[in-house]
Amino acid sequence: MLDKINRIKEEIGSFKAAGHAELEEFRIKYLGRKGHLNVLFEEFKAIVGEQKKEIGQGLNELKTLLSDTYDRFKGELDSGLPVAASNDLTRPGDSIPLGSRHPISIIRNEISAIFGRLGYTIAEGPEIEDDWHVFSALNFPPEHPARDMQDTFFITKQPDSVLRTHTSSVQVRVMESVPPPIRMIMPGRVFRNEVISARSHCIFHQVEGLYIAESVSFADLKQTLMFFAREMFGEKTQIRLRPSFFPFTEPSAEMDVSCTCNGKGCNLCKHTGWLEIMGCGMVDPNVLENCGIDPDKYSGFAFGMGIERIAMLKFEIRDIRMYFENDVRFLKQFTSSF
Ligand code: DAH
Repeated sequence: MLDKINRIKEEIGSFKAAGHAELEEFRIKYLGRKGHLNVLFEEFKAIVGEQKKEIGQGLNELKTLLSDTYDRFKGELDSGLPVAASNDLTRPGDSIPLGSRHPISIIRNEISAIFGRLGYTIAEGPEIEDDWHVFSALNFPPEHPARDMQDTFFITKQPDSVLRTHTSSVQVRVMESVPPPIRMIMPGRVFRNEVISARSHCIFHQVEGLYIAESVSFADLKQTLMFFAREMFGEKTQIRLRPSFFPFTEPSAEMDVSCTCNGKGCNLCKHTGWLEIMGCGMVDPNVLENCGIDPDKYSGFAFGMGIERIAMLKFEIRDIRMYFENDVRFLKQFTSSF
């Protein structure tokens, strides 16, 4: 009987289940009601004397080996993953697919690198902010209609706490804590109470910029932003500044870059030849004063841009929701090492 047990053990050692049907055959042959194991246990009943102990042990080992082998192959077939080859050390390892950087991170890093070349350093601030840093210090008085443009999420359990609607709040924190000259960019996530559509989302990302020193002029702003636009979109890029309004800058402007269609007309620029990419302006003296900086001695400019928008223009992405869906088919198309 011991010989039989050992022979079956050998058979099992070289067994491989290529599919569920083969595994089921294995189960019936060895573990089924009339299978080898039950037959052996029947025979075992007749054994008496010294051999009983040894054969009993052998039978129990066989039983464990059979059920372990069955479970292992069942697990492999159900999950589609190969069973770890415990006894084949020459088998190639399982490969782990490499991920890629998110398009928002790629563009954020690119923006940071461009301003890094102009000597700008990076600052960050909290996403949960107070009214002062998001609105009041930036010249948005309570009840001012400009606040309506940036409806946000309020935290009821913590009065005076809001999710920041723009990275301009970090400007305030920087000016409150760093003495001029200041030359910084501030990337980060922002939140607005917006209906989600192809063009807007309640979560998105911005990069804020701030330059404060003695006698900074609008010409410096223009030159800096033109450098940025050409580095980002190519050296033939033109910029256009249109007068606009922000409570914290005076004068204020929106900056457009020329569309690659050269005004011939395309869907992206809606046949205007221009694409709006950011807001900017000279920091309002009130804001400087709110942050403890002497407006008679210092002046400066600020700008803010949406990363999603710039990435949409660069990568021709048509729907902002794609950034947040985590669909690998979308994400794996971005291979930049930036
Ligand atoms: N914070 C503005 C927004 O989210 C963008 C902006 C405009 C930032 C002008 C600035 C600026 O720093 O000077 O709409």
